[in-house]
Amino acid sequence: MNVLQSFDLTGQTAVVTGAKRGIGRGMAEALAQAGADIVGVSVTLEPNSEVEQAVTALGRTFTPYQCDFSDREAVKNFAAQLEADGVAPDILINNAGTIKRKPAAEHPEDWWDEVIEVNLSAQFILSREIGRGMVERGRGKIIFTASLLTFQGGITVPGYAASKGGIGQLTKALANEWAGKGVNVNAIAPGYIATDNTQALREDPDRSKSILERIPAGRWGRPEDFAGPAVFLASSASDYVNGEILVVDGGWMGR
Ligand SMILES: NC(=O)c1ccc[n+]([C@@H]2O[C@H](COP(=O)([O-])OP(=O)(O)OC[C@H]3O[C@@H](n4cnc5c(N)ncnc54)[C@H](OP(=O)(O)O)[C@@H]3O)[C@@H](O)[C@H]2O)c1
Repeated sequence: MNVLQSFDLTGQTAVVTGAKRGIGRGMAEALAQAGADIVGVSVTLEPNSEVEQAVTALGRTFTPYQCDFSDREAVKNFAAQLEADGVAPDILINNAGTIKRKPAAEHPEDWWDEVIEVNLSAQFILSREIGRGMVERGRGKIIFTASLLTFQGGITVPGYAASKGGIGQLTKALANEWAGKGVNVNAIAPGYIATDNTQALREDPDRSKSILERIPAGRWGRPEDFAGPAVFLASSASDYVNGEILVVDGGWMGR
């Protein structure tokens, strides 16, 4: 296959979690540009959202679902609803995530539980439910959104760091089982990206300055920086890439 054609996603269906805003929205729009129809889900996603308008303007379909990933039964129901609606995803972008900042000594257990549930357990359950069909069909692409805190400990976010460390291991665990069955499982680890997730950091002048000083690219990342990496890992161009955590961070990890 011609190398440029190997990036083409025409006729494929991608489920993108956390598609309403931020990095998920950037990835949903990129996959649509590459030809995929998008099934979007987030806790508050409603019909006719901005991401839906952007995807349909590209000539692709966008089907919105609402699901609160902190509710395990709701996640299972969402997976069952997809099947009942006849959605057989070619691509799953496991991107929805939350963050709670408070020093470890005062970090509440219910915050810990919620972050682990949304960022790790819900992603395992969705991958298991959607991955099963991919394995049966002998093809599929699963992409997690990891983090620099897959590798580093972070500051005042113990649950988040633990959840994202877990995502790194889950990526490899699923890749080991499914690489030989035609399903690629990989992750993208964003650096510091200007979204709602990092608003508190950008509003703190000291943290904001120290973060920016360490990014060789000299700027915070943007959702559109994930377009190329997401299409690459969602497409045939990455068919021999398995269990990889692709860091997209303007060079932070290299410092
Ligand atoms: N920004 C960064 O610097 C950075 C760095 C490393 C990793 N990440 C990761 O990248 C992913 C996307 O983050 P972002 O920066 O784009 O954040 P964001 O702008 O805050 O968007 C988060 C998305 O996840 C959805 N979501 C949050 N909690 C949910 C829940 N309980 N159930 C269902 N959906 C939920 C949100 O839904 P609603 O829109 O409906 O509220 C939203 O669409 C996350 O996994 C995050 O940990 C971000």
